[in-house]
Amino acid sequence: MTDAHAHALQDAQDRLRRAVVRHRGEPVGTVAARDGRAETLNYDQVFVRDFFPAGLALLAQGEHAVVRGFLRAVLSLQVQEAHLDCHLPGRGALPASFKASEGRLEADYGDKAIGRVVPADSVFWWVWLLRAYGRATGDDALAREAGFQAGLRRAFELCLTTQFDMYPTLLVPEGAFMIDRRMGVYGYPLEIQALFFLALRAGLELLSDDAAHRPLRAAMAARAGKLAHFVREHYWLDWERLNALYSHPGEQYGASVRNRFNVNPAAIPAWLYDWLPDEGGYLIGNLGPGRMDFRWFAQGNLLAALGGLLAPAQAAAALALVAARWEDLVGRMPLKLVYPALTGADWERLTGHDVKNAAWSYHNGGHWPVLLWVWSAACLRAGRGDWARRALESAGERLCAHGWPEYYDGRSGRLLGKQARRGQTWTMAGFLLGHALLEEPARLAWLAFDGEVEPLACSL
Ligand code: GLC
Repeated sequence: MTDAHAHALQDAQDRLRRAVVRHRGEPVGTVAARDGRAETLNYDQVFVRDFFPAGLALLAQGEHAVVRGFLRAVLSLQVQEAHLDCHLPGRGALPASFKASEGRLEADYGDKAIGRVVPADSVFWWVWLLRAYGRATGDDALAREAGFQAGLRRAFELCLTTQFDMYPTLLVPEGAFMIDRRMGVYGYPLEIQALFFLALRAGLELLSDDAAHRPLRAAMAARAGKLAHFVREHYWLDWERLNALYSHPGEQYGASVRNRFNVNPAAIPAWLYDWLPDEGGYLIGNLGPGRMDFRWFAQGNLLAALGGLLAPAQAAAALALVAARWEDLVGRMPLKLVYPALTGADWERLTGHDVKNAAWSYHNGGHWPVLLWVWSAACLRAGRGDWARRALESAGERLCAHGWPEYYDGRSGRLLGKQARRGQTWTMAGFLLGHALLEEPARLAWLAFDGEVEPLACSL
């Protein structure tokens, strides 16, 4: 390790500790960013999704209290009662973020956030963190507390509720996850499906087997199997599959047809034919009636590889694709969030002329160093620690010199993000957690699962 690299690690560690937020004297999370220059907006809040890697990085440093405090604080903010109030998300939902103010926790369920987006991912990050906390500390008693058991039950009842659709995937509004702005990601975005699957697996370990939980547990297990089958079958793309899609018939009616979603081959974008490598494949970004979003989304693919939503051979192929397209997807600052960027009329129409999401910037093709942790974890699980190390080593020095920015811009991530916050907590955490995993690969068991979920075929 170079001196500069060691210095980056120390700096990230010190800053992460300083980012801890207290409520009535107890630690309850970390602020999203501390940047003296930029407008604060809501970056002074504790974001549930941002805390996941921060919590894991703190666990790796032996700091348990803050993770416990966070898990309790978020539970206290869960929507507890069934209600008919259209201004509150359903029972079981969690906020995107909260802040400790004058002895109170003030939550934002999307009622104040820019664009008024309701998070669907918070509940999944919380469940998965609860499981990771137990793994890392050996403290299983927390999840067994009656309050946590009730919280888990509410969370899964919310996700398994049937509404106006019949896919095993979960239907969510625009921007309901890390991409929390308009980007054409409404419907059945991959990241939500990968997180849902992880949470189902974690939940099955955490929710007790009491008679009262049995029907819910059975539904959770069945859903995980159906989700695995559906995603592996319909989201997976490689040359074999692309060839099949290319000559898909249309307008087919009935239970067993080839082109179930009536996707027109003319909708396959031209860039894909040049870009898709011979070896490797990936999960497309979204799937619905007449719609396949062929963009590559980093977090969804890596979470699917890490959590077992992808079969082992597909997971290896998904990582091989990144290695084959290293310049595009890893570039100078791991990793690109989405490839390729929306440009021109697509950008106008799908983002609503969102200037922050201009092509190759921010969510629209920017590079997010927070993804270093999930990249490292997915690589380790697939036995490719060398790819994880390659990405991490190229990043540390620059991240520290630039003051831990939120994101980078440009096709290869050489530009500092135009509106990137500095002192961004999950940037430090992504780097630290990537290191913690490489240094001690046994920590992968905090995140990953043993064995495989048996895929269950379904008629859709
Ligand atoms: C931005 C990101 C979101 C993140 C938040 C706080 O809104 O899009 O994913 O949680 O900043 O860092």
